[in-house]
Amino acid sequence: MSRTVYVNGAYLPEEEATVSIFDRSFLMADGVYEVTSVLGGKLIDFDGHLARLERSLNELDIPKPEAFDSLLEIHRELVVRNDITDGMIYLQVSRGSAGDRDFVFPDPEVVKPTLVLFTQSKPGLAESPVAQKGIKVISIEDVRWGRRDIKTVQLLYPSMGKMMAKKAGADDAWMIEDGFVTEGTSNNAYIVQGNKIITRALSNDILHGITRAAVLRFAREAQMEVEERSFTIDEAKAADEAFITSASTFVMPVVEIDGVTLGDGTPGSVAPRLREIYLEESRKAAI
Ligand code: PDD
Repeated sequence: MSRTVYVNGAYLPEEEATVSIFDRSFLMADGVYEVTSVLGGKLIDFDGHLARLERSLNELDIPKPEAFDSLLEIHRELVVRNDITDGMIYLQVSRGSAGDRDFVFPDPEVVKPTLVLFTQSKPGLAESPVAQKGIKVISIEDVRWGRRDIKTVQLLYPSMGKMMAKKAGADDAWMIEDGFVTEGTSNNAYIVQGNKIITRALSNDILHGITRAAVLRFAREAQMEVEERSFTIDEAKAADEAFITSASTFVMPVVEIDGVTLGDGTPGSVAPRLREIYLEESRKAAI
């Protein structure tokens, strides 16, 4: 069934939606994006995703699209028009098309940003059977640029990382810089030692995950100990548990790193409990 998507002010069938070949996100990866999950027809952590979008745009001097203040309404309209119960809404803003290729940014008074949104239906997203058994990750070198806090569409290396994982019979990859884990290809990374949750502190080295912020808040509220510091891959392999967080996986246990089984090879107790709390609280706060 054809989806209804949103492009620069218009709701269109996906086959009729177009963007210029000169669009800077196509030519230069000059664009940013957000992924917001939908559970029970409602948006999860929407305000956080909107705030991060605004920050990403500001950091790159991309003007806010005219429809910025209507983004909640547009998300909701796409949920209704595509009959989404569970799934994701993808949003992308690029610096637009100057009608030619040029490294220099176009005049923002003349060239308006491109705004695209589309839905991905994933019925039963929160009941993923994968979460019951956990995922396997491999470690790879982190060769991305130095502003990973900005959610740009430069996703080639994360994509290659997923392919390396697939080739190795794993589900995902954790990236390593100077011996320390930065994050997963499209998620934040955590280890658990006893009752302590350890995850890298926020900086330009990682994306400031919206799910991360919520999960750490819920963990602290549940009296779990949280330590925001870098950890090595060897520390991770020796941990009691590990997990990842993102808007599309929520809290997902990791049971194997580079072929080393963690604990007894099951998701353990901390990650499944955090997943339960996150899903329950997020559903309650969904809009
Ligand atoms: N990825 N780190 C990276 C590199 C990411 O791409 C993502 C999100 C996260 C988690 O952020 P959040 O909790 O706000 O989703 C961390 C999205 C889901 C994606 O690219 O599909």
